[in-house]
This record gives sequence, structure tokens and C-alpha cells, in this order.
Amino acid sequence: MLRRVSDDVTEALRAEQQRFEAALAEVNDADALYELQVQFIGKKGSVSKLRGRMGKLAPEERKAFGMAFNEVKKAIEASLEGKHRAIKTLQREADLGRFEDLTMADTMSPVGSIHPVTRTRRQLSRVFRKLGFDVVDGPHVEHELYNFDKLNIPADHPARDMQDTFFVNGPAGETDSNLVLRTHTSPVQIRTMLGRKPPIRIVAMGTVFRKDDDPTHSPMFHQIEGLCVDEHVTMADLKTTLYRFVGAFFETDLKVRLRPSFFPFVEPGAEFDMECPFCPKDDAGAKLPDCGVCKGSQWVELGGAGMVHPKVLQACDIDPQEHSGWAFGFGIDRMAMLLHEITKLGLLFDGDARFLEQFPC
Ligand code: DAH
Repeated sequence: MLRRVSDDVTEALRAEQQRFEAALAEVNDADALYELQVQFIGKKGSVSKLRGRMGKLAPEERKAFGMAFNEVKKAIEASLEGKHRAIKTLQREADLGRFEDLTMADTMSPVGSIHPVTRTRRQLSRVFRKLGFDVVDGPHVEHELYNFDKLNIPADHPARDMQDTFFVNGPAGETDSNLVLRTHTSPVQIRTMLGRKPPIRIVAMGTVFRKDDDPTHSPMFHQIEGLCVDEHVTMADLKTTLYRFVGAFFETDLKVRLRPSFFPFVEPGAEFDMECPFCPKDDAGAKLPDCGVCKGSQWVELGGAGMVHPKVLQACDIDPQEHSGWAFGFGIDRMAMLLHEITKLGLLFDGDARFLEQFPC
């Protein structure tokens, strides 16, 4: 009898099926099962390839081969499915049989804590946002133009002295780059006024750098700057805002006072103090004089403030005839020390875990 081409192909098909069944018996996990599926009935699998040979068959042979092909493929699929279920059942049994040793020693790594300065920054940010201020950022490496010139700090001002300021080489080592590590957060005022139109209400917080290093000064410390520019803004708005701020921050009603002072970028300028929130009190609620923080003066110095100097507004293309503004700035580290009763500034920046662990989250 004449052997038909379809017999050869069907034989090859059965041979693949046998090969598949033999391989399946060796498979014990889902990954290997998937590989097997790909190898035999995937797009380029050995069984799928045989289907391609159908085109070469005589039309009358195609039907028989087609039926054989479908039968083999279905059988393979059913075996795969059966094996899949068996693997899952085994896995589940293994899971259920797992033994958890609950007496094992705790191997979790210790949880860190939030640094007192970061904590204070977050608290300041919360309070000022509630008072309607945006919190903005500025770069640590600043142009002299923004750090000094546009703030009405002239070229011969002692604040620019090498003693105070870290001058920074520019890209590619340029030494006359006019770049400095910012000595205060006030340049963020300039950046804000150059970038936004009034009304402006922002605070900027961050690290600043000066070349002092002694027990009460660190070359790297933190400041907060506030700026408000609008029509008809007055010193009374400044004082009210500071009053609202200290009240909200220390959660008690505290007086604020301004004392005349000088900063080149404000006119008039002032230093501001708040009523000491730390004074011990007698049973009747009257303050006692022996306070370790204010030393009995009942006032705590906070920072500098004033009405934005017209020259500063002009340097930022704001017409002082149309708009006025106020600004303030103070140290965050001292605030953190007051809040957490920390007596030495150095403790904040030494990075000693024994100190930081005392402020758990
Ligand atoms: N930039 C000042 C400093 O670092 C602080 C300051 C004083 C900021 C008065 C102000 C201000 O905005 O109005 O000492």
C-alpha cells in the first residue's frame, strides 16, 4: 500500500506527544511547566510547527491530519492543566505545613527617628501654610548678585568678607565665578520676587553657611525667611503675622515686640522678640523670675525683620510706589533647641546616634 505523506506527519505528531508526556513526568514546578508548554505548543513549539506542514498535504489528506493534530493538542493542553493543578495543590500543602518559629529573636533593623531640626522645620511649615504662606526652596550655591547685591548689601560690606563667606569655584574650576554658599535664606526673597508677581506670601527654609565655628556657632546652620509683598502692606501686618505665628507654634498666646535695628535689605528694620513661653509659673499662674531660657527678662530674641527696602523691590522690577512688603528671618536650630530643651548647638550636628535616639518618632 502506498504510504501517504499525512501518515509521516501524523507519526511525527504522535512522537512529539510521547516526548511531551515523558518530559511532563519530570516537571515539578510552575516555571518548568511553562517552559514545557512553550517548547511544545507555544508559537514556535515543536507541535505547532508540525501544523505548518498541513499546507503541503493533498487536500484529501488534510482533514485526517487536522483531526489528529487537534486531538494531540487537546491532549497536551489537558495534561498541562492537570499538572498545573497538581503543582498548585502541592504548593498549598507545603505552605500549610510550614512551621513559623515565633520564638525567634527579633531581627528587624532599628527604626530611625526624625532629627529635631527636621521636626521643627516641618512644624514651621505646617503653621505658615495655615497662615496662608507658600513654602518655597532655593539653592545652597548662590550667585553673589542674589545673596548680596540685589539685597542692597554693597560690595564693600563686611558680610561679604572671606571671614564670613564661603566663595565657591564655578564649573570647570573658574575662580571668579561669583558663586557663594548662601550666607542666609534672604536670596530666596529675590528669586521669588523675580519669578512671581505680587501678591506674594512665602516662607523659605533651609541650610545656610558662614565661616564661623565655635561652641555657639556652626558653619552650617538653618534659617527660615518670610516675605509678603502686596498693595498697602504695613509694619502692623508684619507684627500681627509674627504674633499669630508664635501663638500657633507654641500653642499659647504670646506677645511679640519689635526693636529698631539695621539690615541693609529692610527699611525700617527691626529685631523681634517673643514673650518667653518657658518661664516657670507659680500656683496662681504668675511667672517666676528664675527661667533658664530668658534669664528672667521674659523675652526671647527670635530674629530680624522689617519693611522690604525700596531698592530691593526695584532690583526685582517691583514698583515701590505700587507695592510694599515686609520680610523676616530667624534661626531654626535655636528654635529646635528651645523646643526640645537641647543645651548645646553641637549636639544637633554631631550625628551621634545616642543623642538622636532620644527623639523617637
Ligand atoms: N538675613 C538676615 C540674617 O541672616 C536675617 C534677616 C533680617 C532676614 C531681617 C530678613 C530681615 O528677612 O528682614 O541675619
